[in-house]
Amino acid sequence: MSMPTTPVTPLAADDGGLYQRDRTWHPPALAPGYKSTTLRAPRNALLSLPATKSELTGPVFGHDALQPLDNDLIHNFSADGGGAIGQRLIVYGQVLDENARPVRGTLLEFWQANAAGRYRHKREGYTAPLDPNFGGCGRAITDENGHYHFRTIKPGAYPWPNGPNDWRPAHIHFSIFGHAFAQRLITQMYFEGDPMIWQDPIALAIPDRAAVEQLIARLDRHNTTPMDALAYRFDIVLRGRRSTLFENRPEGN
Ligand SMILES: [Fe+2]
Repeated sequence: MSMPTTPVTPLAADDGGLYQRDRTWHPPALAPGYKSTTLRAPRNALLSLPATKSELTGPVFGHDALQPLDNDLIHNFSADGGGAIGQRLIVYGQVLDENARPVRGTLLEFWQANAAGRYRHKREGYTAPLDPNFGGCGRAITDENGHYHFRTIKPGAYPWPNGPNDWRPAHIHFSIFGHAFAQRLITQMYFEGDPMIWQDPIALAIPDRAAVEQLIARLDRHNTTPMDALAYRFDIVLRGRRSTLFENRPEGN
């Protein structure tokens, strides 16, 4: 005989509880058009593992460890000071919580292909050339109002071994750290107006078009630097019903 259970009423978000993530906002773990999901999608029910104390309290990074060029991908790998080849951009935005409050002191890391679409990686298989002055990664910390910015060049589209001839749209990968390693979130940013977004098996695995739209940075002509760089704005919402879609947290946060 089963005992009657008392229903648990979750705390309302205004009372300190968390908004439930909208699960339909995220792609299914198994999306056959995105080939590698067929191998990595769980085949058994998920288990919930509580975070250990060291995962929550362990050292993450030193805020004072950032170097002046860490948020300048045009120059942070340049041997001769000449800078990376490509269309120069400023990417900026705000990191927000589910109530649109800014999140300060958050470490952002970003990595991307060069202007030709080539990564600096030993397993890279694309024939496009490397740029000797472009490393492809950088980092920044949000300020008191949750704002971040960095300078880079526009990455090229690149082919990848998914279907017989699939290409990724131009994109920048983002990692966002909270106050512990266990709070790391990962996502991708796309560029407004790129038709290849809507042919991308990874973007098409996301069921809700509005969730894809939230990953698209908007061209912002008001923040360009004349004769130097275009500007794109990309805001990141860490959690809640309309959280930015994070690749490593499809189960919610
Ligand atoms: Fe990529």
